[in-house]
Amino acid sequence: MISYEEVQKHVSADDCWVIIKGRVYDVTNFIALHPGGRQAILSHAGKEVTELFSMLHPSDALENLPPEACLGLVDPNTVPAQENVLTESDLQRRAAREIMPPAQSMMLLRDFEEWAQRVLSETAWAYYRSASDEEHTFMENQDAFRRYFFRPRVLVRDMSTGSTETTFMGIETSMPVFISPAAMAKLGHPLGEVNLTRAAGDWDIVQAISSNASCSVDEIFEASSEDQPLIFQLYLNKDRSQSETLIRKVEKLGARAIMFTVDTSWDSKRTLDSRAKAPTSADASSATVATLPVNRAISGYQDRNLTWDDIAFIRKNTKLPIIVKGIQSLEDVEMCVSHGVEGVVISNHGGRQADYAPAPIDILYEIRALRPELFEKTEIMIDGGIRCGADVVKAIALGAKAVGLGRPFLYANGTHGEEGVRRVMEILHEEITNTMRNIGANTIEQLKPEMVGPAGPWVGANRPPYIKQ
Ligand code: HEM
Ligand code: HEM
Ligand SMILES: Cc1cc2nc3c(=O)[nH]c(=O)nc-3n(C[C@H](O)[C@H](O)[C@H](O)COP(=O)(O)O)c2cc1C
Repeated sequence: MISYEEVQKHVSADDCWVIIKGRVYDVTNFIALHPGGRQAILSHAGKEVTELFSMLHPSDALENLPPEACLGLVDPNTVPAQENVLTESDLQRRAAREIMPPAQSMMLLRDFEEWAQRVLSETAWAYYRSASDEEHTFMENQDAFRRYFFRPRVLVRDMSTGSTETTFMGIETSMPVFISPAAMAKLGHPLGEVNLTRAAGDWDIVQAISSNASCSVDEIFEASSEDQPLIFQLYLNKDRSQSETLIRKVEKLGARAIMFTVDTSWDSKRTLDSRAKAPTSADASSATVATLPVNRAISGYQDRNLTWDDIAFIRKNTKLPIIVKGIQSLEDVEMCVSHGVEGVVISNHGGRQADYAPAPIDILYEIRALRPELFEKTEIMIDGGIRCGADVVKAIALGAKAVGLGRPFLYANGTHGEEGVRRVMEILHEEITNTMRNIGANTIEQLKPEMVGPAGPWVGANRPPYIKQ
């Protein structure tokens, strides 16, 4: 057995050991390859990192180390007791959790967000809630929905029956809503993404699995029910052969589509996340070992050199339909159509990339007003800022086939786990049904552009071009 004292002799970049689950690992050669970045490991050299490691990594992550990296067992008697000092805010979060109402008492998606801020770890809240720079796009994504109002029609049909079922990308689903791909669900709840998978399975909702999921794709597919539709979100690796292997693997596992994310080929400053990791003046001397904000840490392998030709690369490696996610202009929807992709997600990454990128609902309206034929050429989806059933209905009436939600699912998973995720789906289903039937539709097909348009009187320039004068 290896003593803790011995481990402490290996704490530099050219000789680095760590302790995980009672075993000592020599990770020296792995530091440069670490998908989470060099600093993430270096700042924990010599330490017992089980808790941190398990919180951030899929359970099969250790399999990426060569056999010789595992040096053997650490002598448990030599490992100092964990200094488990709870900070003031840890205590506050603990107290908040004790008085947090059950999932069924949450009435709005925003209720989950409010509680998430109170009970999630600072790291988790900062990573989830973060948006880039001054967060104008983050706020605009939600605010923009308030600029669209309904045009309810009454006495048109029997509202005692109906359904929110629909189909997108050839997948039948209980409502036109999917789980947008989001990294690191384990930051909020130890079971991570599989909570989302199980809830989505019961509700017949599509989950898009992030390339940076904190559960492995095997674990996620294992947690899925038979024929449960899962989509795989892809970040292209600098090493294309790795992407090739990954695409083939997820196709074999049964993914229904590849969602190629194209809005992150360059970094962004996720303000809250960066602040959470930045040294305060009191410990400025530790600046050199400050941990990276989570988004910097996880994106090391992503290629920054992406072009429209990469769609052909993906096409060459899969028979699955391709959805391009991260389109932020009508012009690029046209580019997607000319490259023959089956689906497009108009998205600005939840306001996490270019600040001042437009709200997706505005681009959707622009397409409806100026180029409605595009809706026939590819399936158009949006995500960003959707926080209630009415938001969903507005997008669907304008022509979206489905909409994605990111943060609301992460927040609910963080506060109430799988139960919370189910409750989000239940709330959305109720709100979508109510909104539809109160504006004159009892099926998704009956939602039409004429039922929604700009706020204010529909006269003059404010009159939607798709309404007869
Ligand atoms: C054993 C093989 C390892 C693999 C395959 C691996 C992989 C990854 C990946 C993919 C991420 C991004 C998070 C995600 O996508 O889930 C990550 C983040 C991270 N990893 Fe590792 N990792 C390994 C070992 C380690 C070790 C030994 C440490 C030592 C402490 C470590 C510390 C971290 C930290 C701290 C982050 C997050 C960065 C931050 O929050 O600042 N990892 N790792
Ligand atoms: C792919 C290579 C390896 C990886 C990823 C790895 C990692 C692990 C893991 C995760 C365990 C726990 C297994 C369990 O408890 O079910 C384990 C057990 C162990 N490994 Fe490794 N290891 C590797 C190879 C080696 C090698 C080459 C040695 C010897 C130098 C070694 C020494 C040990 C010892 C002593 C145990 C404890 C056995 C026990 O609890 O019965 N490992 N290793
Ligand atoms: C914490 C977090 C992690 C995310 N990770 C990914 C990711 O790994 N891949 C991806 O394509 N999009 C990712 N996104 C973007 C989401 O897929 C989605 O576009 C965005 O969350 C939608 O905005 P909303 O949170 O307002 O619903 C992430 C978003 C958040 C909030």
